[in-house]
Amino acid sequence: MASPALICDTEQWKALQGHVGAIQKTHLRDLMADADRCKAMTAEFEGIFLDYSRQQATGETIDKLLKLAEAAKLKEKIEKMFKGEKINSTENRSVLHVALRAPRDAVINSDGVNVVPEVWSVKDKIKQFSETFRSGSWVGATGKALTNVVSVGIGGSFLGPLFVHTALQTDPEAAECAKGRQLRFLANVDPVDVARSIKDLDPETTLVVVVSKTFTTAETMLNARTLKEWIISSLGPQAVSKHMIAVSTNLKLVKEFGIDPNNAFAFWDWVGGRYSVCSAVGVLPLSLQYGFPIVQKFLEGASSIDNHFYSSSFEKNIPVLLGLLSVWNVSFLGYPARAILPYSQALEKLAPHIQQLSMESNGKGVSIDGVPLPLETGEIDFGEPGTNGQHSFYQLIHQGRVIPCDFIGVVKSQQPVYLKGETVSNHDELMSNFFAQPDALAYGKTPEQLHSEKVPEHLIPHKTFKGNRPSLSLLLPTLSAYEIGQLLSIYEHRIAVQGFIWGINSFDQWGVELGKSLASQVRKQLHGSRMEGKPVEGFNHSTSSLLERYLAVRPLCYMSSFRILAVMVNQYPKDNLEALTLGFYSFCRSSHRPHMTLPCCRRCNLRCFTCQLLSSYLARLSTSFFFLLSGVRSQFGSAVILRFCVHLLLGEEEKTSDTMNK
Ligand code: F6P
Repeated sequence: MASPALICDTEQWKALQGHVGAIQKTHLRDLMADADRCKAMTAEFEGIFLDYSRQQATGETIDKLLKLAEAAKLKEKIEKMFKGEKINSTENRSVLHVALRAPRDAVINSDGVNVVPEVWSVKDKIKQFSETFRSGSWVGATGKALTNVVSVGIGGSFLGPLFVHTALQTDPEAAECAKGRQLRFLANVDPVDVARSIKDLDPETTLVVVVSKTFTTAETMLNARTLKEWIISSLGPQAVSKHMIAVSTNLKLVKEFGIDPNNAFAFWDWVGGRYSVCSAVGVLPLSLQYGFPIVQKFLEGASSIDNHFYSSSFEKNIPVLLGLLSVWNVSFLGYPARAILPYSQALEKLAPHIQQLSMESNGKGVSIDGVPLPLETGEIDFGEPGTNGQHSFYQLIHQGRVIPCDFIGVVKSQQPVYLKGETVSNHDELMSNFFAQPDALAYGKTPEQLHSEKVPEHLIPHKTFKGNRPSLSLLLPTLSAYEIGQLLSIYEHRIAVQGFIWGINSFDQWGVELGKSLASQVRKQLHGSRMEGKPVEGFNHSTSSLLERYLAVRPLCYMSSFRILAVMVNQYPKDNLEALTLGFYSFCRSSHRPHMTLPCCRRCNLRCFTCQLLSSYLARLSTSFFFLLSGVRSQFGSAVILRFCVHLLLGEEEKTSDTMNK
């Protein structure tokens, strides 16, 4: 008999649907009373302990889920992934992020070629480059060693590396290796993110890593051009080769951008963006910050879970169990969300990373064969470290909607503190919550209990907790680079398991394309209206009026110097203008660093003849002049003053708008 096209047509799916009623009649309070059940609902690997006894499930549920896995051909699908078959069929690609952390002697083929040697040759190059960089032998345009790295990338070229960086920052071994260095990320195309990412950085000691799989992502490329301008305006065009490097699968575009191909680090189309943290995307910036040996430990951790996932029986396989339970919660119990709640501040960027990993992978509307799905796939992932989340959204998960929770705890803190005289150490205080919350969710509190506590009658309904809210607990022995790699790999495979069961393609992302193409139509309109005064056309009424409203205000970066001057002349008597002008210049000089809107001053670093002359002239000015300056400053705002000064005194045409439209 031909196998059914959709998983929801199988007997095994229907058996689980039929089982829901029985489970809904139980309460976790009663399920938890069965110690044998609780003992069975655990799994352990290398000290990582999973307890899923607080899931609304019994042994029978797990059996049925394992049968569903069989019906979905889970084993075969995992094997196909590890063997490099092109399981990302809509993009005709293998899915081989496991090869990125495989040992040197592993053999993993894609298109009949073992990819492991290529992977290691890039890792060797990163190791060598990061050693040169960290030893101070790699110097910038002015001969200084570089200590700061800004990694420019978005989505998968940002969230995974940010998660790992944030987790490593307080690990004592990693922190020691990162002393005196900074790693920052620039993702959003919002110029505010540019300003934040380079705040207090000097281009002289900064290396920019442009990270983009395609090297065409609009946000990343504009941010990369903006930082290129930041470097050039300070150090000159020859500085790019020393201050900018890249990670991409598109080395041709890297070269065209002006980055020396020797300083480009490759990866491959068989690495999905959101699965790319173990490629040069994460390995390069993290090695620059922490050194390659720390990153290698992270990769080894991820690899250990790859082996566990590939070879353990499903009954004790952590990613498989987690994936099956998520399918159970989403597709059978009807819970659309999942909260990721690490009781570890170091894991504060885990939830944002999992959001992309999970929602971009599994938020699909058709099966892998293109058949519309009569079931919802994926879940809404969100989260926050405990205990911060407790003081934010836990009210809803205790008494409002039912949201299955992942509680993640660590036995040994990265930064233990014990204050003499305190009842417990600070980490024990944190972990008291980690152990208490799952029971509060599972058991709740009954009106009878409240009565026995003599709670006033009118408050009983408000203080009642229904309980029966599912969660699982994942306890890690510690949180070093190795466990961080393990945690990443657990989630990657769990999400793949969910997709394999639902029968979707978890490795494409066509859903992000439509918004991108509409944005380019808007971009064209904004350019036409700003530069050539073109009317808004081709949009619906709502978008047109929003655009007209937006375009009605001309931002400063598009204002001509003439217009600013006109404003000034109208405001101030002519004889004050000269004094004002010079005062503004002084103000500009003292506050320009590292101001992106002063290209002329940045370019000469105030060393040019005009700047020197004006500086010495200003030094002789009386203090009364500066009174005037401060009055004007408050009236116009510093940005106007700075721009006015540049335009008027140095006669430079405004550079910002040119840069923006390159
Ligand atoms: O958001 C869509 C997406 O394609 C992600 O999948 C990817 O991680 C991100 O954009 C960045 O893409 P790139 O690395 O090519 O710049």
